[in-house]
Amino acid sequence: MSRSLLSSTALATTMAAVLLTSGAASAASDPGKALAAKAGIPWPAVIAHRGASFNAPEETLPAYTLARELGADYLEMDIQRTKDGVLIALHDDTLERTTNIAEVYPDRAKNPVSTFTLEELKRLDAGAWFNKAHPDRARASYAGLKILTLDEVIDIAEGGKNKPGLYIETKVPAQFPGIEEDLKAKLEQRGWLSQRPAAEKGYVNVAHMPGRVVLQTFEKYSLDLLHKAMPNTPKVLLLWLGDGYIQAESDTTFKDSGAKDKAAFYASQKVKSKAEFAAWMNWAKAHGAIGTGPAAALKNGGDQSYMDLVQPWMNTMAHEHGLIIHPYTVDDAVDFKAITARGVDGFFTNRASELLKFYGRPSKESMESILKRIGY
Ligand code: G3P
Ligand code: CA
Repeated sequence: MSRSLLSSTALATTMAAVLLTSGAASAASDPGKALAAKAGIPWPAVIAHRGASFNAPEETLPAYTLARELGADYLEMDIQRTKDGVLIALHDDTLERTTNIAEVYPDRAKNPVSTFTLEELKRLDAGAWFNKAHPDRARASYAGLKILTLDEVIDIAEGGKNKPGLYIETKVPAQFPGIEEDLKAKLEQRGWLSQRPAAEKGYVNVAHMPGRVVLQTFEKYSLDLLHKAMPNTPKVLLLWLGDGYIQAESDTTFKDSGAKDKAAFYASQKVKSKAEFAAWMNWAKAHGAIGTGPAAALKNGGDQSYMDLVQPWMNTMAHEHGLIIHPYTVDDAVDFKAITARGVDGFFTNRASELLKFYGRPSKESMESILKRIGY
């Protein structure tokens, strides 16, 4: 549904209430707002992580269509490449968690995505796992969903009144030499590297903005390659602690630590020094990034709760380096509120509906109504 259905006065009042009740000092957020405007990126941004993936199987047709219809600013996806050279949207580098590969290709169940042709991947069911994993959110119509190509995700982004942008990660890029150039070719072919038509007034219009595509990666070399291929497209460096990424105070891994709770272990991890963090900010800025995507520790833990890389001094430092901040992956109001108060510029979220509510621009149409309307 359109943002305009909420009047501008109501929107301003709601946003003021959100900021007051969240304790978010607008002064703390303003540097990011100005930087986002400079890059042509909406502020604060609602990035639908793998689509509306709390409510539908990640990176599938209903997940992305639902995110678009709810009013998310961006459809987020992880890009990999099939054996026959087609770009697809899939997070894991194997197919075990989110498909029925163990039934369809039992001898190849642990093989990487890159060893399958598109035709082979299209035989897999990418929806039934969700119904088993989340019976409370299951829908019979999710069974039999297909893995999507990047072309198909672009079709979804273009297919409604809302015109969200694309927030594209090169996933395990070392397995896919040249994927940055392939991505450029596809985006160019689909007309996403140049000005796109405006949405009708009152609808999400991110595809029309300069930040219509944001490229993201954890890997420095991939950021370099993305910047060479698409120098004018905004890029975000995703942040992680340890293992060849930002150096931690301690080298002890979760496995070696003997800890039981992974989220608690991650939350205890600290950056080695402010100088180390500053070095990453400098590198990102110098290599074409307009922002960072830091991990965040969540109040209630869980498997999306990582290191706390959104401490106020880190956010101040990022902004001082001219970088906006989009933390991953945050779904609960308690975390939206606490992390917003530290001065970030949007979130990756599986629950776009909840983040839109938090930002005072809720969908007017219920989740159930949208799902039925779009055929689920
Ligand atoms: O791309 C931001 C966030 O998605 C990074 O984590 O593992 O969900 O791709 P992941
Ligand atoms: Ca991702």
